[in-house]
Amino acid sequence: MGDDSILVLGATGKTGRRVLARLRMLGAPVRAASRSSEAAFDWADSTGWDAALDGIATVYIVPPDVPGPVYDFVARAEAAGVTHLVLLSGRGADQWGDTDFGAGMLSAEDAVRGSQLGWTVVRSSNFSQNFDEELFHEPLVAGELALPAGAMPEPFIDLEDVADVMAEILTEPSRHSRQTYELSGPRALTFAEATELISRASGLFMTYRRVSADDYAVALVNAGLSEVDARSNAAMFVMMDRGIIADPTDDVAAVLGRAPRTFEEYVVRTAAAGGWRR
Ligand SMILES: NC(=O)c1ccc[n+]([C@@H]2O[C@H](COP(=O)([O-])OP(=O)(O)OC[C@H]3O[C@@H](n4cnc5c(N)ncnc54)[C@H](OP(=O)(O)O)[C@@H]3O)[C@@H](O)[C@H]2O)c1
Repeated sequence: MGDDSILVLGATGKTGRRVLARLRMLGAPVRAASRSSEAAFDWADSTGWDAALDGIATVYIVPPDVPGPVYDFVARAEAAGVTHLVLLSGRGADQWGDTDFGAGMLSAEDAVRGSQLGWTVVRSSNFSQNFDEELFHEPLVAGELALPAGAMPEPFIDLEDVADVMAEILTEPSRHSRQTYELSGPRALTFAEATELISRASGLFMTYRRVSADDYAVALVNAGLSEVDARSNAAMFVMMDRGIIADPTDDVAAVLGRAPRTFEEYVVRTAAAGGWRR
């Protein structure tokens, strides 16, 4: 590992594995880290952090859900000679207010911004891939997606665009230092419209139903989530319903010089790959 080595945290996750593949393709020296990765890294146990940071210049940080650990991590990164931190966060973080949602991301933003290092914060809209790689997948395939979202649209972003943006920043960090980017897709659509597009392309009958945030939290607990995670997920929809993150942004184009991929492109690609099969 050389002076320009990049540490990718959350390397097995939805963004991390896409970022890693891009960096490897570019020939950048990278180290993949998470609890199950080659470089063992656990937010709950700092014993492996110094080894993960050894020889690293730039770090991609997927923050933990709980507030706190990123402050210690930033201090270790400074001591290890890291020069730049790139943080994944959520769209509109400074407007979320007092809510059960996003405490880990807010704390991580504060820790990264307070560091002596170069930093870039990338706040993302809801990922399109939540519909096939995440919580919305199972109910969709079963035929009904029920969420606490109504007429307020969301400009879903394709994770391939998030990863393209991260790869650009991680390989050209000084160009993006002290910037906060707010990423979105090119068009906002309601969850009912998103469900309709996925139903069409997959050829499966799927419906959308609006439920209350409380009922959604109960359903998530019944599906196996912890009370805290269920409350956080439900609170995200209450935050979104305020309309503060409903408009598309220009930041994918600002970083990459091209428009973001459409939701329809994501749906066609994922349906063709068998992403929604019964
Ligand atoms: N979903 C969305 O629409 C959306 C939008 C904006 C922002 N976000 C934020 O994006 C983040 C999630 O990113 P993602 O989707 O790329 O990840 P992800 O798919 O949720 O995967 C989580 C990653 O973190 C690792 N991990 C889990 N627990 C860990 C621990 N205790 N210590 C170290 N690593 C751990 C996992 O690997 P191991 O299991 O191997 O440790 C995995 O690589 C969250 O902060 C979320 O709030 C999500």
